[in-house]
Amino acid sequence: MRNIFRKKALVIAASVTLLSLSASAAEVEVLHYWTSGGEARSVAELKKMLEAKGDKWKDFAVSGGGGENAMTVLKSRVVSGNPPTAAQIKGPSIQEWGAEGVLANVDDTAKAGKWDSLLPPVVANVMKYQGHYVAAPVNVHRVNWMWVNPEVFKKAGASVPKTWDEFDAAANKLEKAGFIAVAHGGQPWQDFTVFESIVLGVGGADFYKKAFVKLDQTALKSPTMEKAFKTLRMVRKHVDKGFAGRDWNLATQMVINGKAGMQFMGDWAKGEFTAANKKPGVDFLCVDAPGTANAFTFNIDSFVMFNLNTPDAKKGQADLASAIMSPAFQEVFNLNKGSIPARLDVKMDKFDDCAKKSAADFVATSKKGTLVPSIAHGMAVPAAIAGAMQDVVTEFFNSDMDSKAAVEKLALAAKSK
Ligand code: BGC
Repeated sequence: MRNIFRKKALVIAASVTLLSLSASAAEVEVLHYWTSGGEARSVAELKKMLEAKGDKWKDFAVSGGGGENAMTVLKSRVVSGNPPTAAQIKGPSIQEWGAEGVLANVDDTAKAGKWDSLLPPVVANVMKYQGHYVAAPVNVHRVNWMWVNPEVFKKAGASVPKTWDEFDAAANKLEKAGFIAVAHGGQPWQDFTVFESIVLGVGGADFYKKAFVKLDQTALKSPTMEKAFKTLRMVRKHVDKGFAGRDWNLATQMVINGKAGMQFMGDWAKGEFTAANKKPGVDFLCVDAPGTANAFTFNIDSFVMFNLNTPDAKKGQADLASAIMSPAFQEVFNLNKGSIPARLDVKMDKFDDCAKKSAADFVATSKKGTLVPSIAHGMAVPAAIAGAMQDVVTEFFNSDMDSKAAVEKLALAAKSK
């Protein structure tokens, strides 16, 4: 964030905030980037719950998967002294915003709601800045999924791959039968989403942590990372010509309507399948990305509260935070969103098998040490570093760069500030 804000802008921001807020005090303005079919259904539940508490929801939706556009808009709003009441921000970015002194804490709500005892530490820690709750978690998404259309596989006589070699073979069969093997949207965050699953599958969880959490230069330049790039090149071969710029949910539609066989995407994709009335295990399958069966890449969505010094804003933030953490919200939101509740005590009986598997794997991998943060979804390293690394992956995806050059570039990008 230091590279985003200038001190002067912050001073202006602080003084304008007080002036501008009294006018819109009763509203709870919530910035988010949930605009696809499944996402919109999910965020509507939050709106409903907040309005039931007598507050007025002011929708601040900025479309663009992965939230890059939303973050750009948010920064300009904060710099101009007009932050929203709450914004969808996650991972290490919460610390960066905290360091700028613009966040409000919701410790009272957290204490009253016993958040410390309800949230697993891996979730609670992300929500706190210097020991204080500044954010409320809505879910846990799993990223290392592969979404499969079983009908397409059947027609092509292919079986669902468990390794990257099997994946190549299955993709060839699908293509021979006239299908697109991989539905992909060529946007940098989507390229990076595929790549992190490949790195996890090729190198395993320990390697992933060394490379993508500790940013270990040796791991980043290793033959294992080269192999991951070679695997990405192989996957690239199985993407259709129209991939450039395609939104992730349109790629999911290709699997839903049987044009394509597979998609690598986090389980927000399941929200699209279920919004289209498709049944898991019947119309679509959720399977581990090849080689990643024993690991879990987590991506936690959360709402961060901004420092607005009016009683109405404080009430709105407390209401939003307590609504988010209520078992009823955690259940209904996640049933729609494709993710699992952030609270471990929410009953899973209404959830489908994909969510049940995710919930069980979340606990099991956390015990085994194979629960890893998603780098592509802002959970592992500061945004500036993740962004530089993401650019390398996208450049590789769209050129004939060899994997040796790619690992050198990736390692260099990991040193960016
Ligand atoms: C967010 C999800 C969202 C997805 C697509 C991810 O980074 O965590 O909530 O559905 O991007 O926009």
